Amino acid sequence: MALLVVSNLTKNFDGITAVSKVSFSVAQSEIFAIIGPNGAGKTTTFNLVSGVLAPDCGEIFFRGERISGLKPHEIALRGMVRTFQTISLFDTMTVLDNVKVGCHGQARTHIFSAAFRTRAFFEEEVRMTRTALETLRLLGLERRAHEMVGNLPFGQQRLVDIARALAGEPVLLLLDEPAAGMNARERSELMAIIRTLKQRGMTIVLIEHDMDLIMEIAERIIVLDHGEKIAEGKPEEIQRNPDVIAAYLGEA
Ligand SMILES: Nc1ncnc2c1ncn2[C@@H]1O[C@H](COP(=O)(O)OP(=O)(O)O)[C@@H](O)[C@H]1O
Ligand SMILES: [Mg+2]
Repeated sequence: MALLVVSNLTKNFDGITAVSKVSFSVAQSEIFAIIGPNGAGKTTTFNLVSGVLAPDCGEIFFRGERISGLKPHEIALRGMVRTFQTISLFDTMTVLDNVKVGCHGQARTHIFSAAFRTRAFFEEEVRMTRTALETLRLLGLERRAHEMVGNLPFGQQRLVDIARALAGEPVLLLLDEPAAGMNARERSELMAIIRTLKQRGMTIVLIEHDMDLIMEIAERIIVLDHGEKIAEGKPEEIQRNPDVIAAYLGEA
């Protein structure tokens, strides 16, 4: 059974249909990409799947459960975590503290136990620090753990943003244009990370503008144009699909 099933998803913003009857499903451990020209409805699709927006029509099932209508934090608790197209880190906090924000424990540490410095509070702190450091190690950012995140190069800040999402120990990770603003070396690091995550059983859905990256890493792709799904297939099928080529030429 598919991990994520999206069926007939539709969202209108006064007058324009941003997402129109879009259906797709993602299998466990798959690297799945959503591509399309600017304004095609990719981010809106993520917003609907992650509960940031409510759909006008359509249904979403995650791990067999209907999640359409749930709030973002309820969906995150079920194992789906996302990044945003624009990174939003706390510039004056360290890399480590930024990543700890993404840990599950963040929600469990009550004001009470924090205020009274209970044993549970300290244990939770230790656990979150360990999870955050392990995540940073996976992304090759361990040595940066105690630096202010605002001092890192932009591409590394993007990786910290991904680390924060991973600290929530997701089953499904949604990445919105993760390679935007990255240089060639950071991009290949990102691809290696995505492959490692897949090997560990994680499922990844990514939106990406960098066509070379997508063609190299995605196992299956859907293409959106003006809110509609115009193609679905393996990278080599998408690359030679005339409708896809026309959509991208239209953008240029
Ligand atoms: N919150 C919003 N309010 C009004 N229109 C929106 C909103 N979000 C997106 N749109 C519109 O929906 C369409 C799809 O946008 P988006 O999903 O961001 O595209 P993409 O991520 O593919 O570039 C665009 O025309 C955009 O202007
Ligand atoms: Mg977008």
